[in-house]
Amino acid sequence: MAMEDATEELLHLKLAFLAGEPPTCILALARKAGGGSITHVQHFLLENCTSTDKDSVLNRPDHIYKEISFLSSTRLVSMVARLSCSSNMLEGDTGCSLWPSSLFLSEFILSHPNVFSKKCCFELGSGVGLVGICLNYIGASKVILTDGDASTLTNMKENMELNNLCIEGENSKLAEESKNKVECKYLSWEEVSVSDLLGYQPDLVLGADIIYDPVCVPHLTRVLSMLLRRDHEQGETKERSGEEFATQGPVAYIATVVRNVDTFNCFVKAAADSKLSILNITSDAAPANFLPYMLSYDRSSVHLLRVTSLS
Ligand SMILES: C[S@@+](CC[C@H](N)C(=O)[O-])C[C@H]1O[C@@H](n2cnc3c(N)ncnc32)[C@H](O)[C@@H]1O
Repeated sequence: MAMEDATEELLHLKLAFLAGEPPTCILALARKAGGGSITHVQHFLLENCTSTDKDSVLNRPDHIYKEISFLSSTRLVSMVARLSCSSNMLEGDTGCSLWPSSLFLSEFILSHPNVFSKKCCFELGSGVGLVGICLNYIGASKVILTDGDASTLTNMKENMELNNLCIEGENSKLAEESKNKVECKYLSWEEVSVSDLLGYQPDLVLGADIIYDPVCVPHLTRVLSMLLRRDHEQGETKERSGEEFATQGPVAYIATVVRNVDTFNCFVKAAADSKLSILNITSDAAPANFLPYMLSYDRSSVHLLRVTSLS
C-alpha cells in the first residue's frame, strides 16, 4: 500500500472514531487500514481510538460527544463541528440525534458556499444544529435555527457554545460584537402565526429530515408558505444572472429520506394545496463527498428538494 493511502486510511479511522461511528464501521476501517488485519493497526487503535475522555467533554452520561470532520477534496479537514447527541435516539422528539439528511444538507452548503454566504438563512427542525454551524462557517449573514422541542433547543444551544458560536439574545453584548452568532428560537409548526414571523424575512429556508410525520405535514407546509411568500423577497435573492441556482424570491432546500412513500406523497399534496412548487434536485446538485470515512452514512438514501412559492 502506498504511504499516502495508508496515512489517509488511518486518518479516516481516527475521524470515524471521533464522529462516534458504530463499532462495526470502526472495525471495517481498521481492517482496511491494516491491510485486512486489525493486528497491524493495534497500536494506532490503542493510541487514538480507546480514549475514555471523549464523552467526558459533556459531563452527561446520557449523551455522546461527536466531532464531525468535513474533509475537502484536497483531503484536508476543512471544518469540524462538535456536537452533543443523545445516546437515546428518541430524546427531544428525535431532535437530539444527528440524522443523515443534515449531513447531506451540510455537504450541500459546503459544496455551494456562494449560494448561502451573505444570505439570511432560517432552518426548521434544526435538531442538534449541525446545519447552522456550517452556515456560519461559510459566512451566512444571519443564521436562525428553530425547533419545536424544548429539550432539543437546550441541547442545540449547548452545541452552539461547544463550537464557540454566540447565541443572539442570550449573551447580547458578546453576540452584538461577534460575527459568529446564531439565533436559536422555539418554533412549533402547529403554533406559529404570521405575526410570530413578521421580523423574519429569510432569503433561504432549510430543513433536514423534517418530513416524517403525516400529522405535522400540513402545519409544516403552512410554515413553509409563510416563510417563502414572495413579498418576503430580499435584495440578495433577486435573480442575478450567472449566480449558482439563481432565484427569484426566497427558496427552501429540504433534505429528506423517504422512509414512507405515503407520508412523502402527503407532503407533496399538502405543498401543492399551499401553492408550493417542489423540485427534486438531488442528481443536478449532488454535493461533494466531505465525509468519506463515515461508513454508516448512506448518502444515496437522501433526496434534496428545492421548494418555492407559486403565489
Ligand atoms: C428527525 S429530527 C431532524 C433533526 C435535524 N434536522 C437533523 O437532520 O439532524 C426532526 C426535528 O424536527 C423537529 N420537529 C418535529 N416536529 C416538529 C413540529 N411540529 N414543530 C417544530 N419542530 C418539529 C424535532 O424536534 C426534531 O428536532
